[in-house]
Amino acid sequence: MLGIETSCDETAAAVVETVDDDERPWRLRSSVVASQVEIHREWGGVVPELASRQHVRDICGVVERALDEAHIAWPQVDAMAVTQGPGLIGSLLVGVSFAKVSAWALQKPLVAVNHLAGHIESLWLEHGRIPTPSVVLVVSGGHTSLYVVPAEGEYRAIGRTRDDAAGEAYDKVAKLLGLGYPGGPIIDRLARDTNQTAVRFPSTRLTHPDRNAPRREYRFDFSFSGLKTAVLRHVRQRQKELGTGQLPPAEISEIAASFQATVVDTLVERAFAAAKWHNARSVGFAGGVSANSRLRSVAAARGRAAELAVFFPSPHLSTDNAAMIAAAGLRQLAAGRLAPPDLNAEAALAL
Ligand code: KG4
Ligand code: ZN
Repeated sequence: MLGIETSCDETAAAVVETVDDDERPWRLRSSVVASQVEIHREWGGVVPELASRQHVRDICGVVERALDEAHIAWPQVDAMAVTQGPGLIGSLLVGVSFAKVSAWALQKPLVAVNHLAGHIESLWLEHGRIPTPSVVLVVSGGHTSLYVVPAEGEYRAIGRTRDDAAGEAYDKVAKLLGLGYPGGPIIDRLARDTNQTAVRFPSTRLTHPDRNAPRREYRFDFSFSGLKTAVLRHVRQRQKELGTGQLPPAEISEIAASFQATVVDTLVERAFAAAKWHNARSVGFAGGVSANSRLRSVAAARGRAAELAVFFPSPHLSTDNAAMIAAAGLRQLAAGRLAPPDLNAEAALAL
């Protein structure tokens, strides 16, 4: 399976094959990611039009390299999978057009993949069989969405952010602290060996508006925009007190670490509460923010305490990649769900 991913600012292609192993049926042959982060850094965030133009420049080379590294040529590709959405429409269109044309020219089956299903399947690609039902949190720059996976390949949404995604909050807080872009890895690094409780920031807990909601409808939603504002207020207040726009580096690290502690505690608390509510046998974290070292250690400790298996993808499969799209594509291909010839990209595709 050749997977193609262009939903945001990474042009990616990967080859995943099925092997005769019931516990680990998918094997990663190659995964190539061309990141545009250097282009967007200058602007402090992803500029959609620049992203789509760069995808056009990169896509052929990225796909050729993925085939090369898998030691195959086009005739050995049995099927193709492409991200249909959600994402930036101009970016998505590059991958969808490329995949449709190649699949048609080669007369190979094409499957359309939801980017979020890809993030979820990154866990199965990495670890093989994961105990179900599982609760999986997809947490990235664009999403903070919680799912129950009752059985492999089935996804049921049970919560999401009502405003900013967790990764977006990381990026915005890093920007206001003058730390650079993307903020997640920078704050992750700064927060190590730093006091996590120097500043008390508020955390938000959202549930169903009706406290006696039917069991199936209980929500596990998130909100991060209030936290972002609290950090901004705190920084302004300290600047006023110190009479300078530039806070001492040690204090910036403490603010970053305290922000991160609040985000991580919220994510872990909600994910494990959902796991308990849904009698899950495992908890998974996927998406760019799942690369976070504190999230990994806090979730692992919580898993041990709750006697629940906890799964993370390796860092390479956490951030956007096409291997997870190929894996999710194999799932769909096995179920016989092929993309129609008039497949179109969908910016707000739901899962
Ligand atoms: O999944 P991803 O590559 O793209 C989206 O689909 O959004 O996630 C990118 C996001 C960015 O917001 C970035 O700051 C965040 O993931 N991120 C991290 C870390 N590495 C990347 N956040 C916290 N800690 C990290 N180590
Ligand atoms: Zn993503």
